[in-house]
Amino acid sequence: MGYKAKFRIWRGEGGEGKLEDFVVEVNEGEVVLDVIHRLQATQTPDLAVRWNCKAGKCGSCSVEINGRPRLGCMTRMSTFEEDETITVTPMRTFPVIKDLVTDVSFNYKKAREIPSFTPPDNVKPGEYRMQQIDVERSQEFRKCIECFMCNNVCHVIRDHEENKPAFAGPRFLMRIAELDMHPYDVADRKDSAQEEHGLGYCNITKCCTEVCPEHIKITDNALIPMKERVVDRKYDPLVWLGNKIFKR
Ligand code: SF4
Ligand code: F3S
Ligand code: FES
Repeated sequence: MGYKAKFRIWRGEGGEGKLEDFVVEVNEGEVVLDVIHRLQATQTPDLAVRWNCKAGKCGSCSVEINGRPRLGCMTRMSTFEEDETITVTPMRTFPVIKDLVTDVSFNYKKAREIPSFTPPDNVKPGEYRMQQIDVERSQEFRKCIECFMCNNVCHVIRDHEENKPAFAGPRFLMRIAELDMHPYDVADRKDSAQEEHGLGYCNITKCCTEVCPEHIKITDNALIPMKERVVDRKYDPLVWLGNKIFKR
């Protein structure tokens, strides 16, 4: 059965904007993105929203719904009361381009700062042999759809613009952890994770894990093990002695 829903949507551009109220028809089985599309079709043709797959796989439609980061295409209207006002705002950590569309280029910049997979010189493509357990370990991280909701919700940059240059965010710290776990990757990921990508800023609040639509255990399976490996390296007595001798 259809009904009329109350929507409150953030509208604006150029650093200015406000919440606008709408009443819009909802049909059974619809998701929030369907309702936004109906608004575009019937009341606000210039309402900007980013989307692509409508199947929870492209990571484009990330917004904040009632203050919580969510994919618009995967958030069923049936999760809300019919008389509830549903507030949709852009992701807060990134600058707004227009309405619900944010400029997520911060994330692409961070991605480029991470050196790609670096195999040893003496192993040619096609000669890699991995244990199944190593394959499975990083499989989870490869489910990432780059919706950037984890980076959006992490307080290190959500509330502190000044931390952005020094912090890659959970998505890319997870990428570093994934590469560090790879048995054929020979790049030094541990020092750079700490010194260049801000692993130490993460104080394990786990908000990133909570919002991940792919249910990746970002904190428990990527960030904490990475922190442990960094600490092992730093306080390993042999490494400490080696550093002392070679830095003299
Ligand atoms: Fe999105 Fe999860 Fe990937 Fe973060 S780790 S970008 S929340 S899919
Ligand atoms: Fe941020 Fe996730 Fe760490 S939310 S503080 S990166 S556990
Ligand atoms: Fe692709 Fe929502 S439109 S994840």
